[in-house]
Amino acid sequence: MATQTKLNFNIDNGLRSIVDVNPCYETSGGVAVLGDSLEVMRAIPTGSVSLVLTSPPYALHFKKAYGNKEKHEYIEWMIPFAREIRRILKDDGSFVLNIGGSYNKGVPTRSIYHFKLLVALIEDVGFHLAQECFWYNPAKMPMPAEWVTVRRIRVKDSVEYVWWLSKTPHPKADNRKVLRAYSPDMIRLNKRKLRETTRPGGYIIKESFADVTTGGSIPPNVIEEDIAEDMLRFGNNAANDRYTLRCKAAGLKIHPARFPAALPEFFIRLLTENDDIVLDPFAGSNTLGMVAERLGRRWVAIEQEEEYLRASRFRFDEFD
Ligand SMILES: C[S@@+](CC[C@H](N)C(=O)[O-])C[C@H]1O[C@@H](n2cnc3c(N)ncnc32)[C@H](O)[C@@H]1O
Repeated sequence: MATQTKLNFNIDNGLRSIVDVNPCYETSGGVAVLGDSLEVMRAIPTGSVSLVLTSPPYALHFKKAYGNKEKHEYIEWMIPFAREIRRILKDDGSFVLNIGGSYNKGVPTRSIYHFKLLVALIEDVGFHLAQECFWYNPAKMPMPAEWVTVRRIRVKDSVEYVWWLSKTPHPKADNRKVLRAYSPDMIRLNKRKLRETTRPGGYIIKESFADVTTGGSIPPNVIEEDIAEDMLRFGNNAANDRYTLRCKAAGLKIHPARFPAALPEFFIRLLTENDDIVLDPFAGSNTLGMVAERLGRRWVAIEQEEEYLRASRFRFDEFD
């Protein structure tokens, strides 16, 4: 059974109604709720959340949680969640969906279920595609072995899709919050000074192009996990981080499919401000909540497997 805590979650816009649903634990910044996220989200007021960021079970993981559903059933399963997500988002809110690609059964061709899902989210549910982004994960296994390592007719897959969707065409976003350090090339260019020039493709490069006084360079739409940085800031995703050590000590299952802290960090910074509410309806080990708490955002995590949710407490100082 989940430990029932008296909820003292200072969300002032009615989100307290989720108290009735079955909170598992709370911190100063958020609440973790045990249950089916479709049910839990129904108790959340319309237009109250700034960002929903999540990684649902992919079609390939589907068997475990939901019986023998096939990929074509996945979209049907996902749409009711997406409708609730759209409802609870603020008009300037975003829905960031991390979803992995996969192969068709028995043949070396790729499924397009995640593209079909994207089309349905836009055409049936009413989301807008703000931008398609990618999570570059070079640590992915060279799978399926049959095509990649045995017959050697496909290469290693190293990206996952991250659909950045929005409720309206103008979600709140500020890329100045995710600037990166300038590259050595950029700094060299800046020292040398550029003269305005036109590239062979016709693109005009202005003198200000190499101006390194604007705070950093604008990042690409490919999010990379930097394990060293992750460890420094969040103690996340290494074999000996606090979460995994505490799970082992408590004899609790370590979540097998966590995303790196760098992924929620990028979108929380880009799309939200202090005190905004961010929500993960398929929270797993609650990586999102951990990052949101450190960045001063309020968070709601919903997970239906009690053991995962209980273990996710270890991500927070309060439970040290
Ligand atoms: C890919 S994992 C998420 C991992 C998470 N991003 C992390 O970093 O730990 C998906 C999770 O969704 C949960 N889940 C599946 N269906 C659910 C539902 N209807 N309501 C709540 N959680 C659900 C699964 O138990 C699983 O832990």
